[in-house]
Amino acid sequence: MARILTGVQSTGIPHLGNMLGAIIPAIQMAENSNNESYLFIADLHSLTQIKDPKELKYNTLTTAAAWLACGLDTSKTVFYRQSDVCQTTELSWYLQCFFPYQRLTLAHSFKDKSNTVEQVNSGLFNYPLLMAADILLYDADIVPVGKDQIQHIEITRDVANRLNHQMGSTLIIPEARVVKDKQIVPGIDGQKMSKSKKNIISVFEGTKTLQKQIMSIKTDSKGVNEPKDPDNCTVFNLYSLVENQKEIEALKTQYISGSIGYGDAKKLLSQSLLKKFRKQINRFHYFMNHQEEVESLLQQGSSKARKVANKTLGRVRQKLGYSS
Ligand code: ADP
Ligand code: TRP
Repeated sequence: MARILTGVQSTGIPHLGNMLGAIIPAIQMAENSNNESYLFIADLHSLTQIKDPKELKYNTLTTAAAWLACGLDTSKTVFYRQSDVCQTTELSWYLQCFFPYQRLTLAHSFKDKSNTVEQVNSGLFNYPLLMAADILLYDADIVPVGKDQIQHIEITRDVANRLNHQMGSTLIIPEARVVKDKQIVPGIDGQKMSKSKKNIISVFEGTKTLQKQIMSIKTDSKGVNEPKDPDNCTVFNLYSLVENQKEIEALKTQYISGSIGYGDAKKLLSQSLLKKFRKQINRFHYFMNHQEEVESLLQQGSSKARKVANKTLGRVRQKLGYSS
């Protein structure tokens, strides 16, 4: 039996990249009864960016609603809020004391923003070790993540090995599981889709918003009847991520033969997304209208998570020489 764990930051309504790259694959893994799964909302990580309590709370709600809408089954999965488990920050402190400062300066999460270093808070600098605590606290074996998070899992393995080496075997060394084919979902500018790049496609924000986002996908300026290169087109790439083989081949033929314009291809993509995610969209609205149900599910999950967290932390505290 493998223990699967993953988290998603609550920095906004999850977008298509989050859904295809993280949420849906994690839920599929959780469906496998050989696995035990832990899925959580990383709202402590969000504090590195968001300082507005209302926004923080709202983002947690929309994130939870999106996970539930995508089919997360709370009877099979421990579904919780990171900030409800204060054991995480305690373990993170211990890990910080076992990890060289210099190595953290090389982490992408920090390096990407270090040219605006005056805006970088210490939380952002220590971000990878909070994530390491998220994982190590639950003795996770497998962590499904997008490609961009691999370095964080390497840091997690590294710090766990360092602590184990000095204190004797204490922590389980986890492995990253990167989703094949859907590794990086492109945004409307063709770059990796990301909330921070404002290039997202969101199925949960209403049909009009979705259509507007899709209509603004950047393409080259080829006319309707000109042959087009499907492999270098974000509209086609996105279509290939959500459609079945027959539909993909049909659109490919139209691209190559110059029998479809980008406007129509975009319409096809909108229709395809709305059809594929109709059930999830309806469920999302249901949960947004039943917030007390979401809150209660999270509290039940957090209570289960704390029990497991206390056990691991007890083990670590004992090894370090603290009362356990
Ligand atoms: P964002 O970059 O929009 O802030 P997060 O950092 O909150 O997204 O990512 C949450 C999860 O979704 C992570 O596992 C991440 O790897 C995955 N993810 C985010 N964007 C994409 C993408 N464009 N393609 C594939 N997976 C993604
Ligand atoms: N840093 C991850 C992201 O931005 C979110 C996250 C926090 C996470 N803790 C985690 C993912 C633990 C997997 C495991 O996507």
